[in-house]
Amino acid sequence: MDKKDIPNDYYKMYEDRYQRVYDHGLEVWGKNVISSELDIFVEKANINKNMSGIDIGCGEGVNTIYLAKKGLKITGVDFSKTGLDTARKLAKKENVEIDFIQDDALVLSNFKDDSFDFGICSGCLHMLVTQSDRNKLLKQIKRVLKADGIFFLLNRGDGAKDEYPDVENIYEDREWIWVDKDGKRLDAIKLPHLPSWPRSWENHLKEIDHGGFEVVHKFNSINKSFSDSMCVILKPKI
Ligand SMILES: C[S@@+](CC[C@H](N)C(=O)[O-])C[C@H]1O[C@@H](n2cnc3c(N)ncnc32)[C@H](O)[C@@H]1O
Repeated sequence: MDKKDIPNDYYKMYEDRYQRVYDHGLEVWGKNVISSELDIFVEKANINKNMSGIDIGCGEGVNTIYLAKKGLKITGVDFSKTGLDTARKLAKKENVEIDFIQDDALVLSNFKDDSFDFGICSGCLHMLVTQSDRNKLLKQIKRVLKADGIFFLLNRGDGAKDEYPDVENIYEDREWIWVDKDGKRLDAIKLPHLPSWPRSWENHLKEIDHGGFEVVHKFNSINKSFSDSMCVILKPKI
């Protein structure tokens, strides 16, 4: 399959992935929060309780909940109904009120222009496997963010090189293996492949610039969710 030929319904396979994992009694992304990275964002961007935010591609909402527990107003968005159901349950357990809304991040049809003061997108842009889809997501972020808004992006990779994903046979299942903390194999199931696309810093910064953003701060990090990660705080270019 060519890079340009990703079908429109491709990202809907995330729903299938969540369902199959839960049906098997396992967890999808685990309960890992990118807490250190979010703390840097909140501090550097002066995020405060008067601001309202969005978490795009929030999945099971662990980062959304982390920010809500700091007293911040935040809405979570994901394509997967099943992932969002888990997010709602976790939020209830943690006693925080969050709207979790099902929507396509490439369209964000539920949201008006200039709706949010801040936003985050953790591990979602890197799941988009064509440049045109990545541009669409960045365009939506720009659209729903206020002109003086601020945004945090985290994507997998150390930025050393562009690792274009294997998009051949995207409808083929791949084995996912769960291991314990000592690396011992716990379980394995077949899941939709859904590869990610870690970019080089050079190309990531190019797509950010093309999306109409300027970089306020960037850094590399290592975390339990995505291992090597590239973090960028952005503001819309005037
Ligand atoms: C790697 S997970 C990251 C989840 C969470 N943000 C985190 O950091 O743990 C990627 C998430 O992006 C969501 N996603 C992928 N494509 C999407 C799209 N087009 N619209 C909305 N969500 C999407 C998936 O359903 C999945 O929950």
